[in-house]
Amino acid sequence: MTVVNDAQPAVITARHTDNVVVGDEIIRHRRITRLMHWSVALTFFIALFSGMPIWTPLFAWMAALVGGMEVARIIHPYAGSLFFIASVFQFFHWLGDMRFRSDEKGAWKPSKLMAYMRWEENTTDEGGKFNPGQKVFFFAVCLGAIGLLLSGLIMWFPLYFPRIVRELSILLHDITFIFFLIGIITHIYLGTAAEPGTFRSMTRGTVTRRWARLHHPGWFRDVDKKG
Ligand code: HEM
Repeated sequence: MTVVNDAQPAVITARHTDNVVVGDEIIRHRRITRLMHWSVALTFFIALFSGMPIWTPLFAWMAALVGGMEVARIIHPYAGSLFFIASVFQFFHWLGDMRFRSDEKGAWKPSKLMAYMRWEENTTDEGGKFNPGQKVFFFAVCLGAIGLLLSGLIMWFPLYFPRIVRELSILLHDITFIFFLIGIITHIYLGTAAEPGTFRSMTRGTVTRRWARLHHPGWFRDVDKKG
């Protein structure tokens, strides 16, 4: 059983506990969750800034961010491998919260999606900790990480593979990366500018009651009931 000390600031409780109410705040992501997420993000961006200049001369200027083209070529496969390892930890850590539920089937209806975009007050108490869009993103990231790793390994050790496999791996790496980038840009937009109050869940670990009721009413009900 988790004992929550209300006299303790939420940010301290958020070091080891989540899904609890502390004063006016709700702890959404405890420290280990945030550490995993930022490890995924950091390794992703190092792989991104070292990979884009290798991909096309259009982004050659990005090599300066990681110490030049030579450095970019050396660190890219290592950063990509670390990104994969961090993603595996994050996958198992979040898997339990990412199962699709029967009460969120209606979430894909255009009327529901529009109501969500309009920030309409959600009077239902459907859904869990993450919404179906977040779950799709989560599984897409995991699949994408596998695609990038496999195609990346083939390019890293080309002598072990026939030419057709090497050529297909370049295609797979590039296509996966393009989808990934679109997904990540959308994700960052939704996690910051589009939904104020979300970013702090990944820094401080907490959200407000109002945020929780608006974005994840089912999760809010469960956490609030616990007290
Ligand atoms: C500066 C970059 C990033 C920002 C600002 C950011 C922000 C966030 C925030 C605030 C959440 C929590 C959402 C919630 O509790 O409802 C989150 C969750 C998540 N993040 Fe990120 N993130 C970034 C980069 C990344 C990267 C690079 C990846 C993967 C490659 C990633 C994968 C995820 C996943 C799978 C989740 C859980 C599902 C979701 O909330 O969509 N994030 N992120």
